[in-house]
Amino acid sequence: MKFFPENASSYGSDVDFIFWLITGVITVASIIVIFLILYPILTKNKTRTREERYKKGIGFKELKLIYLGIFLLAVADFYFLYQEGPIWSSIEESLPEKDLHVIVMGRQWLWEFTYPGPDGKLYTDDDVKSINQLYIPVNKTVHMDIQSYDVLHSVFIPNARFKQDALPGRNITRWVKMTKTGKFPLTCAEICGIGHANMKATITVLSEKDFEKQLAKLYKK
Ligand code: CUA
Repeated sequence: MKFFPENASSYGSDVDFIFWLITGVITVASIIVIFLILYPILTKNKTRTREERYKKGIGFKELKLIYLGIFLLAVADFYFLYQEGPIWSSIEESLPEKDLHVIVMGRQWLWEFTYPGPDGKLYTDDDVKSINQLYIPVNKTVHMDIQSYDVLHSVFIPNARFKQDALPGRNITRWVKMTKTGKFPLTCAEICGIGHANMKATITVLSEKDFEKQLAKLYKK
């Protein structure tokens, strides 16, 4: 059974690892807690003495299991932080050397992608655009300047395990490195008005050669 869309980015498996780690620990903890609640209710309710029914939780002896629970919760939390820290910072806080720089602009209701023109520089007069179609080369680090023309949008690339809000008036630079060629969805993950569901774009991941050809096509337009 497949839970997630195919991973096609350099860091997708790290994100999946954290997801399953947290889900696994939480599942075990939930089963223990549900057992501890249900077992006495279902088996001991009638046989408990009056004294047992009215435990007030005073003193360490009566509270020791609760302290144990809090301790285990803290241990689990710090373990999650320990595991996810380096992954979070490598995806969210660092920006590896770029091979390509594009602008991803959300607007009601489409995605506009801007590439550097023949001069190789973004934010110059010869930049070229494509609508609802993002072309990138495979195995290359792509910096995305995520922007919004109007309201809050969110760039969601399920196959890359990537999500980033697009905020009006702000530029947020994030990166992605796709490791497989093919077409993948890029959708809006933030309710942005009546046409929200129409904000579906496609990322086409191409070999370096095909990408150069595609870029040349955009230059000709
Ligand atoms: Cu843009 Cu929802």
